[in-house]
Amino acid sequence: MFSALKSMRPRWLPRLASANRSLHTSRSYPIAINPSKSEIQAGRLTSENLEIAIRSLYHDGLVMVTDVIPHETLDHLNKKMAEDAYKLYSRKDSPFNYNPNNLQQDAPPMKEFFNSKIFMNPIATQITSTALGPCPKWTFCSGNTAMPPTSENPPVSQPVHTDADFDHPIWLGTHQDTNLSFQEGQHGERASGRIKKEELEQRRAIRPPCQPVVPKGSIVIRDLRLWHAGVGNQTDEARVMLAMIHFAPWYRNPMKLEFADDLKETIEEEKDLEIPVEWVSKNDVAGQYLNRAFGNAYDFSQGSRS
Ligand SMILES: [Fe+2]
Repeated sequence: MFSALKSMRPRWLPRLASANRSLHTSRSYPIAINPSKSEIQAGRLTSENLEIAIRSLYHDGLVMVTDVIPHETLDHLNKKMAEDAYKLYSRKDSPFNYNPNNLQQDAPPMKEFFNSKIFMNPIATQITSTALGPCPKWTFCSGNTAMPPTSENPPVSQPVHTDADFDHPIWLGTHQDTNLSFQEGQHGERASGRIKKEELEQRRAIRPPCQPVVPKGSIVIRDLRLWHAGVGNQTDEARVMLAMIHFAPWYRNPMKLEFADDLKETIEEEKDLEIPVEWVSKNDVAGQYLNRAFGNAYDFSQGSRS
């Protein structure tokens, strides 16, 4: 999965206690790669930076690459998505995850708001295709929006969870001794993916949690299996985080993306990703994309249909 972020204004959690630092533990804060102008222009990291990305992804389950997406393209999309977020938030059947102020929100899937540097970022694809194998499959394109707090809905973090809430063939190295019994619920249940408290406490002693600062325009490449939690929004602006999932080329996930047909040429030009798409006319998609299924309707497991 990679996430493109418009902005995050996190509050630093207390720094690691010195006692924790002295433990034989890995550092908790993720590695950030700051690519050069020429790497950004070419859409490719140098082999040195690619090595750092792959090492971090395997070791930490995630890596950040800073300032790779032009801010003006994010501002254009963010304006629209912030407006959409308030529409979703005001609905009686608001599509929230875990907490009412954490929305599942898709970007408008038409040419006017689609920028390849955001949704098919070549540096993100370079990293995922190195980690997963050539031509990964992109079958999820959505996002989470943390809404500003209200008196009714104060800022609340998501429970720590895994997005890979189903049995899968390979476990993340740092979670190798875990299994589905670590979750409070299985896929399809409301508590799906939530990690049991006692397991979290055990993990905390080895690798404490952190809330890194992610500057605007950065991307985060995160292993789907990594335990994580979105932190509540303490600002007065909707905080949109886009999320795209790339699966290994051998992984038989049956989901498809849905795009307006005015994007056909752009999507079909992308040769470094396999992109199964359900095409919809531009007029229809405008009325549909905010009504899509969410939460457990997504199935990241392997199906038999592909
Ligand atoms: Fe998640």
